[in-house]
Order: sequence, then C-alpha cells, then structure tokens
Amino acid sequence: MLKKIRVEDLRLGVYIAEFCGSWMDHPFWRTRFLLSDPHDLKIIRASHIKEVWIDSAKGKDVGCTRESASLDHRKSGVDAQLEKAADMRHHLPPTTMEEELLQAKTILHLSKNAVAEMFSEARMGNAVDMNVAWNIVEQISNSIVRNPSALISLSRLKKLDEYTYMHSVAVSALMMALARELKFDDAQVKEAGIAGLMHDLGKSDIPQEILNKPGKLSDSEFELMKSHPQRGGQTLLAQGVPGDSATLDVCLHHHEKMDGSGYPYGLVGDQISIPAKMGAVCDVYDAITSNRPYRSGWDPSIALQKMMSWTGNHFDSVVFHAFVKVLGIYPAGSLVRLSSGKLAVVMEQSEGSLLKPVVRTFYSVNRARKISPVVMDLSRPGCDESIIQREDPRDWDLTDVHALCFGDVLDD
Ligand SMILES: [Fe+2]
Ligand SMILES: [Fe+2]
Repeated sequence: MLKKIRVEDLRLGVYIAEFCGSWMDHPFWRTRFLLSDPHDLKIIRASHIKEVWIDSAKGKDVGCTRESASLDHRKSGVDAQLEKAADMRHHLPPTTMEEELLQAKTILHLSKNAVAEMFSEARMGNAVDMNVAWNIVEQISNSIVRNPSALISLSRLKKLDEYTYMHSVAVSALMMALARELKFDDAQVKEAGIAGLMHDLGKSDIPQEILNKPGKLSDSEFELMKSHPQRGGQTLLAQGVPGDSATLDVCLHHHEKMDGSGYPYGLVGDQISIPAKMGAVCDVYDAITSNRPYRSGWDPSIALQKMMSWTGNHFDSVVFHAFVKVLGIYPAGSLVRLSSGKLAVVMEQSEGSLLKPVVRTFYSVNRARKISPVVMDLSRPGCDESIIQREDPRDWDLTDVHALCFGDVLDD
C-alpha cells in the first residue's frame, strides 16, 4: 500500500516509492529502493525533501497522519519562499580574475574529486548522492557569477589521470554560462550544470587505457568509445533520472551533429534539442582547448574560429553565437598580436566590447625580445592599442601561455 509520510517518520526497512517535490531537490537520482543503509537515511534527512511515498507491501510500515503531512507541506512552501528571499539578498560581489582564480582552483579540485566519486558509485550500481552534485553545481555557478572567466580558463588544464572528471566539471561550467546567456531560468541553469557534470558518465565503463590513449584509436576501440552516451543513459535511468530530463537528453545526444553525421542516433537539425546542442558545443570546445600531458590544447580563440567554420554541419549556429558571446571573440588565455607589434595573452573580457579584452603584453615582435609585462584594458577610452590578429602559441614556441595568464595560481 502506498502511503505519504514525513521524512522525520522514515525508518530503516521501509521501501521508498517516491520522493515528493521537484526531482531537482531529490537526495538521490534513484527514487525507488529499500531504505537499508543508515547513511542513506541521513542523506534524506539532510535534504530539502519533506515527505516521501512509501510502499508498505514492499517494506516496513510506519505510522503517520496525513494532516500533519499536509501542514508540513504548507510550511515547506513558506520555508521555500523564505529561502528564495534570503537567496535574493545574498549578494555575490564581482571578483578580479586574480582573486577568483584562487577560489576557482579550490572549487575545481573539490569538484573533480567529487565527480570521480560519483562516477564510481554510479558504476557500481550504488545510489549517487544528489546533494553532492547540486553542491558542486552551486559552487561552480557562484564562481561564474563572481567572475565569468576564471574557473572556465583554469579548467582547461588537465592531468592525465583526471581528464574525464575535470572535463565533466569544465563542461558543467560552460553549460551554465551558456544557459545564462540563453536566458534559461535558475532551475534550468542548474540542470544544465548537472547535465554537463554527467554527460560522459558512460565513460566510467570504458577502460582507462582506451580513454587516455595518446594515439589514434583502433576501429574496435572507437566503437566501444562511441557506446558511452548509451551506457551513460542506461546508468542515469537506473539511478532514477527522469526520462524527459535535460540530464538524460544531453548524456544521450551530445555527440549528435546538425547534419546527421553524429552518433549514436544520427539525429538531424531540430531533432536535436537545445540542451543537447549546447552539450555538443561545450564538449568540443573543452576537448580541443584542454592542455593534456601529451599535447597542448588549441589556443581558445583559434578553437572558436575553427568551430565557427563547423557551425551548420556540426553545431547549431544560434547556440554557437551565444557561446561566443559568453567567452568573447578572444577568450581568456588566447594569444594575440597588438597593433604596436607586441604579443599579449588575453586575461579577461572587458565590459565594453567582445573585441577589446584586458590583455597582458610580454613580447615585442619588432625587437624580437621579451618585454616587461604590462596589463592593459583595450576597451579603456584613450587606449590606442588594438588586436590585429590571433597567434598560434606553437608558432612562437610558447608552451606555457597559461602561466602568463594564471601566474602564481599554478604554483603548488
Ligand atoms: Fe562524450
Ligand atoms: Fe565529453
């Protein structure tokens, strides 16, 4: 028999049939299971969920009164409104790139470890703690609101053994920044963040040697690799993620392409949803710009230029243009040549123009030598410098452009 009870009345041994409230408040993805682990009970009690449906035919029964349940429900509505009001008062003052890089470094470290843990739990068929996932998304989202460039730029640096997890965190950050640009509401922005975190969940089934293989994959390895969207989708469904959620959609469809040449389903154009189109753009950008031990990533502005030439076939042009508005024509970390003949690295975007970011000069092409670095905002009135072209760091034998951008933050 199904019965709605308050979370404080929950006991070990009951069978949970459903959590009440939005699935985004759920402490687990899996919503139907026998509650046998005291740790799970603790997690539910610490969550925003106030009531659950139990099935007394499949587990223990507990006494409850519907009246108190409905009173509690009304109270939870008031609580939610108070929390929302408190959130609105919660001001996140902007931070400088330098300040935010330090916070971003900590957030990335913690998030990467938490994602590794979540992947491992999901692979073993255990319930994933959704509070952890929402907490990661909240921290990343706050960092982007304080400073849009810091965390996204820093997440391009990845070590071999952490690539998949750091990539998941980076795609989560890019998805949320893009969702904000596309005017998604708060709940949709957060779900875009979860979708980014989980888009490659199916890779937890693929052997590390294949995932991290420096050379070209064999045909059979590539076929296995191409199964990761469906493997991830199955895992998400087994965890109870709703079939119509953006999280499942992005996981299944982030390798589809507009011209139908993607996988696994070969969907065409608007058969692919907006969140999945966003997933495709964020996924490719992070993959091609990431610095990995055996190869440096592409320069960010060169990557955007290349991706622009793939829109229509691979990417949706509206989604891609919004993505460029998020990152700038010359994203942080890009190498550029200025009108005075100096080489500079882009530090962050300016308020004024996508074409006039804040840069740090470090080399004079005319004099063929290094110069003392100077930071300048190209959008400032009176600034007579402008960007005349993108530069490929490999043409200048520069393997550490990121060190010029991130400075001391990289020192451990
Ligand atoms: Fe993928
Ligand atoms: Fe990916």
